[in-house]
Amino acid sequence: MREKLVAGNWKMHGGLAQNEALLEQVIAGMENVRGMGCAVCVPFPYLFQAQSMLHGTAISWGAQNLSQHDKGAFTGEVSASMLLDFGCRYAIVGHSERRAIFGDDDATVALKFEAAQRAGLIPILCVGETLAERESGVTEAVVARQIDAVTGKLGVAALSKAVLAYEPVWAIGTGKTASPDQAQAVHAFIRGKIAGQSKDVAENLVIQYGGSVKGANAAELFAMPDIDGGLIGGAALDAQEFLAICRAAQR
Ligand code: 13P
Repeated sequence: MREKLVAGNWKMHGGLAQNEALLEQVIAGMENVRGMGCAVCVPFPYLFQAQSMLHGTAISWGAQNLSQHDKGAFTGEVSASMLLDFGCRYAIVGHSERRAIFGDDDATVALKFEAAQRAGLIPILCVGETLAERESGVTEAVVARQIDAVTGKLGVAALSKAVLAYEPVWAIGTGKTASPDQAQAVHAFIRGKIAGQSKDVAENLVIQYGGSVKGANAAELFAMPDIDGGLIGGAALDAQEFLAICRAAQR
């Protein structure tokens, strides 16, 4: 039976003092939360801090991006094995902000996914449609294309050591959450599509929802049969909000 996973994506926010206060509160608040997975994906410079503070707790940590290359003359890049040096469990790949702003296309995302797995990290593969794509009725086609870019290259079994995050772009940072039914419809489509290739992989795959998840709407989203937790942006920067979301994911 798959367990729900709530992961914070801090994006480019934070600072040493601020992170320390946030993590102290999250650690304390998570002490009596059971039956779900919890993680924070922090900016690269704070991985050491995350490792120092979260080591030995039930909270995992990870990065928000990585290089598709293992090592070499790639100025400014960070490799999967470097992330592993800092105890990362997860690396987000294909976040819509990276796709839209930094040119991470489907092929690059597949390479990053592969690089993460090669090092033993669990990629959190983000997929999702823009508002224009939703309005023109191509949501399923877009999401299918983004998933196929990975499974076409690496096989469906690659998803057995990965997490998927459905993040409709129009719901990210906008306060406009997909309704539980809207999100469930896409999650069910994704699981059904993967089940067409492997029932076992589909059944065990954690599919998170991301896009304006808050303490106030998490429970209704997580009650849907194919929504296995969330990838949390803004609300992950507020300990009490993040903890409320984690509690909503408890079995
Ligand atoms: P918000 O929760 O701020 O909408 O961001 C979602 C997101 O992009 C998580 O990766």
